[in-house]
Parts: sequence; structure tokens; C-alpha cells
Amino acid sequence: MRETLPQILDRRVSEGAFRPDPQQTAVAGQLETLRAWLEEQVARKPGLLGRFAKPPVPPKGMYLWGGVGRGKSMLMDLFCDATDIPKKRRVHFHAFMQDVHRAMHAARKQGVDDALAPFADQAVADLRLLAFDEMQISDITDAMIVGRLFQMLMAGGVVIVTTSNRPPEDLYKNGLNRAAFLPFIDLLRGRMEVVELQSPHDYRQHRLAGAQVYFQPASTARAAIAAIWADLTEGATPIALHLNVNGRDVELPRYARGVARASFWELCAQPLGPADYLAIASAVRVLILEDIPSLSSSNYNEAKRFVTLIDALYEGHVRLICSAADEPERLYIEGEGTFEFARTASRLREMQAADWGRIGGRPPPRQIKTSSEAPTGSPSRSR
Ligand SMILES: Nc1ncnc2c1ncn2[C@@H]1O[C@H](COP(=O)(O)OP(=O)(O)OP(=O)(O)O)[C@@H](O)[C@H]1O
Ligand SMILES: [Mg+2]
Repeated sequence: MRETLPQILDRRVSEGAFRPDPQQTAVAGQLETLRAWLEEQVARKPGLLGRFAKPPVPPKGMYLWGGVGRGKSMLMDLFCDATDIPKKRRVHFHAFMQDVHRAMHAARKQGVDDALAPFADQAVADLRLLAFDEMQISDITDAMIVGRLFQMLMAGGVVIVTTSNRPPEDLYKNGLNRAAFLPFIDLLRGRMEVVELQSPHDYRQHRLAGAQVYFQPASTARAAIAAIWADLTEGATPIALHLNVNGRDVELPRYARGVARASFWELCAQPLGPADYLAIASAVRVLILEDIPSLSSSNYNEAKRFVTLIDALYEGHVRLICSAADEPERLYIEGEGTFEFARTASRLREMQAADWGRIGGRPPPRQIKTSSEAPTGSPSRSR
């Protein structure tokens, strides 16, 4: 028997995987309407005259917004997985933008007048449903591209569903040349159902509440960390998130449901700087950082980067789960930089508090300067 989305949620509650949440059930009900429409279109056999008939006007898509950890991505995943149509794509917004930029670059090389058109035409041919997770607009180039692209996709009958932490009016807030962005906000308001997920809980925090988040020594923590990762991501397939910072590629090797998992060496043994760590902090809600070693003047550069990383995570209210060789205060006890490390140790302590990361909600994404071709923190994915 075909279960509706609210029924699937109910079942997961009864299985103990989820807490009951009427707000989520209500949104699932709205998504169910979209799902039913999409499936019906696919199932409909064109009559004799069918292929000459005008295609049916698609319903409004959904712009689902709300605070962190409310279950937006979970609902979007549920909706996309359950919608039984072949022409669908669910993609992280940044990854999608990276594809768009790549396609535009290729089109320009071929001398195409409207570099966005080939990509939009292909998407219209390939898709009936496009779901973007975590829409964020942080540069005017992207702002303009996204506006036109949405228009082209909607005109082509593609149903768009997107999640965001902000209402449409607050997208690209205080951005340069924002007036040029305002028509896009009107388009979102006019052509999409803007829905706030008002769920009272940050479920990610719930999942972490009371959980140990600092493990030492690292060698004994692997199983515990793997269990936290599995719980937070609920088995969602991780992607490699490629952040484009000032034209350079910064890779987060494993990312799912707002959670990134990396080793100390992956993040601190590469030539990364403050802008890169800020981009990482604004791209993730939770960072699982494994294998922080004992630090000293012999690995001074790594230690310095680690300090910068912790500062960026702290400023960005990112939840940190880590495994380390020792207690924060004993990580860096000799050599140049020990004095500065005291603040990092103190932050590492503070970030272990059960309610850390919740205070003040999520700050607005920082404006990180990017090259005009490159979307900020643009991840592409490799599944
Ligand atoms: N009703 C629920 N009961 C228990 N866990 C839930 C519930 N809803 C969501 N979760 C879990 O909470 C975590 C956060 O959910 P999700 O990633 O969907 O939040 P979000 O609204 O997309 O947050 P963000 O704005 O940070 O992207 C996930 O692990 C998700 O599976
Ligand atoms: Mg999300």
C-alpha cells in the first residue's frame, strides 16, 4: 500500500526513529500534495490528442525555511525519496551552483550568447522536480544567475523545492547591489509556497544533548565517533563538499545533513587560511574532527591552523565533536604559541557545553570574497 508522507513520518515515530512533531507532519502533508501531483503527471498516458495538448500548469513549488535542525533537510529527503518519478534531482544548493558555473563557462567558450540557456534547457528536458538543500545567496553574480534560472525552470514546468534558514526577504540581506535581487524575492513569493517550519526543537542539538563530544585519547574513540556520525546523518549518503574560496578548492571529504567529518590532518595539514576556515564554518552545522595530535613547535603550522579553525567554528556557532590526543589544556604545552593556545583550549572547553551552538541561533553567513566565476563555498559532490 502506498504510504503518504505523513504516514511515513508516523511510522518512523512509532519505530522510535523520530519524535512526533505536528509542524513537520503539516509540512509533510503539503509536500504530499506536490508528490501526488508529480506522480500523477508521470502516470498519465497522453490521449490521442494528448501530445498536442498544452502541458498542465504545475503547482507552486515550496520554499521551506526555518531555524537550524528543525528537520527541513529530513523532510526534503523524505519527499524526494518517496516521489516515484524518474526525472528528479535533489542536490545541495552549492553543488548545483557549481554545475551551473561550469556549464556557463563551457557555453561561453563555445560563443553561446546566453550562457545560462543551454543549462536551463537541459534541466527542463531532464527534470520535473528539482530539490535544493540549503539555499544561500552570498554574492551578486549568484544572485542574478539564480533569479534567471528559477524563472527559466519554472517556465519549463519544473517544480522547485528548496530549504533555507531564512525567509526569502532575508536572502542576500545587506548584499551589494541588493536592489537588483529584489525581483527574485518577488518571484519566490509569487511562484513558491513559502512555508516556515516552526518546529520547536533543534533536533540536532537534541541528538547531541548530553552526549560526549570531546574524546581522548583519539585512538579509543573511533567507534563512538562513528556512532555519532551515523546517528546525526541517519545513514544519508555522504558527499564530498567542495568549497570554492577565492577560486581555490577546499574539500570537506565527507558531508551529510549539515554534518562534516574530517581528520585533523585533512583540515590542518593543508595550506588553508582564515577565509577557508570561515567558509567551512559557514557551510556546516556540526564538524566532527578526528585525531587531533599533541601540538608543539614541531608542528607549529598545523597548530596555528587549528587555532584559526577553532576560532572560525566558535564564531560560526558550529557544533564540534572531536577526538584528540589529550585534554584541551594539555594539547599544546611547549614552544612558541602556547600562550595563544590558552584561548583555543578555553574555547574547546566551552564548546563542549550541552547547549553550546544554540545560543543566538545561527549567525548570518559571512560574505566571503569569491572570484566572479566562483560561487561562495560552492560544493560539488562526488557520491
Ligand atoms: N522529529 C524528529 N525527531 C528526531 N530527530 C529528528 C526529527 N526531525 C529531524 N530530526 C533529525 O535532526 C537532525 C537535523 O535535521 P535536519 O538536518 O533535517 O535539519 P534542518 O532543518 O535541515 O537543519 P539546517 O537548517 O541546519 O540544515 C537530523 O539528524 C534529523 O534526522
Ligand atoms: Mg538542512
